[in-house]
Parts: sequence; C-alpha cells; structure tokens
Amino acid sequence: MKKVLVAYYSRSGNTEKMAKMIADELSQKNISVDLKRVEEIEIDSLPNYDGYIIGSPNYFGTMAAEVKKFIDESVKYYRKIEGKLVAAFTSTGMIGGGGETVCLDILKAFLIHGCLCLGFTRLGHYGPVSIGKPDERVSKEIKEMVNKYAEILNILR
Ligand SMILES: Cc1cc2nc3c(=O)[nH]c(=O)nc-3n(C[C@H](O)[C@H](O)[C@H](O)COP(=O)(O)O)c2cc1C
Repeated sequence: MKKVLVAYYSRSGNTEKMAKMIADELSQKNISVDLKRVEEIEIDSLPNYDGYIIGSPNYFGTMAAEVKKFIDESVKYYRKIEGKLVAAFTSTGMIGGGGETVCLDILKAFLIHGCLCLGFTRLGHYGPVSIGKPDERVSKEIKEMVNKYAEILNILR
C-alpha cells in the first residue's frame, strides 16, 4: 500500500480543514495517510513515504515560517527523496492575495529535492487555493486533486 504524508501548518484552522479533507479523500483511495502539522513531523520519517502533500496559509505571498522551517530541515534528506510525488495547497485571505505563489514556493522547494511535482488543468493549476474557510468549490478541487494524485502515485514504482 502506498503511503503519503499530508503536512500542514494552520493558525486559524482553514488550512487544517483542507488538510483533513485531503487526508479523507486519500484514505478512500486505499492509500495509507499520515496527517501531521509540520511542527510534529519527525524529519527522519521522510524517506518512508511515497509522496507528500504540503499545505500552508498564505503569509505575504509565501508559506508560513513553520512550513519553511520543515522544508529547511528536509535538507538532511537531499538526494534521498528524489522521485517522491508532491502536491501543494493553501488557504489565503483574498483572491489575488498571493495564494498561487504559496503553492509555487512549496513546489519549487520539492523540485530542488528532485521530487515529481503535480500541476493541474481542472483546478487551481498549482494546487487548491481556498479563500478563507474551504467551501464547495474547494471541496470539489480537493477531490479532483486527490484523484489525479492517486492515479499518478499508483503508476509510480
Ligand atoms: C501574518 C499573516 C500574513 C498574511 N498575509 C496574507 C497575504 O499576503 N494575502 C492574503 O490574501 N492573506 C494573507 N493572510 C490571511 C491568511 O492567509 C488567511 O487568513 C488564511 O486563511 C489563514 O489560514 P489558517 O486558518 O490555516 O491559519 C495573512 C495572515 C497572516 C496571519
């Protein structure tokens, strides 16, 4: 069974709600899921997963410092997590507030790790972006994202 880490930071609960929705959808696809706040991730566990789905609130157009810290710590596994499947998501305050650049910044870090990063045609191209609390649109986008993620994950060795 494939194993995925859903990692997130959240202060007021919006990104956390998205993370829970993603974890639920993954579980329904027969994928083993660990849902963790970035602060509680044991960095040595990273090689044990087939992929990561990483979420952060939008803070000034980029990820929260807590998520950046987790990513910085992942340098311990540089060249050791190549080929893992990665997707990103965010919660933001407003349309045009920089949500897409949050996802891009997360994906960019994992590209540098040599991971396989997913983009999408049927939802926010860089990953789901919720404006505040996740609504029906976001719920649909998360389902689409997880469908695509699971499809690709199951093709990979
Ligand atoms: C320090 C800080 C910076 C923020 N910067 C932005 C921003 O640049 N653009 C924006 O649209 N929202 C911004 N927000 C709003 C949050 O992205 C938004 O409220 C988000 O839904 C919070 O997610 P959470 O509930 O998971 O903590 C900011 C919030 C904080 C606390």
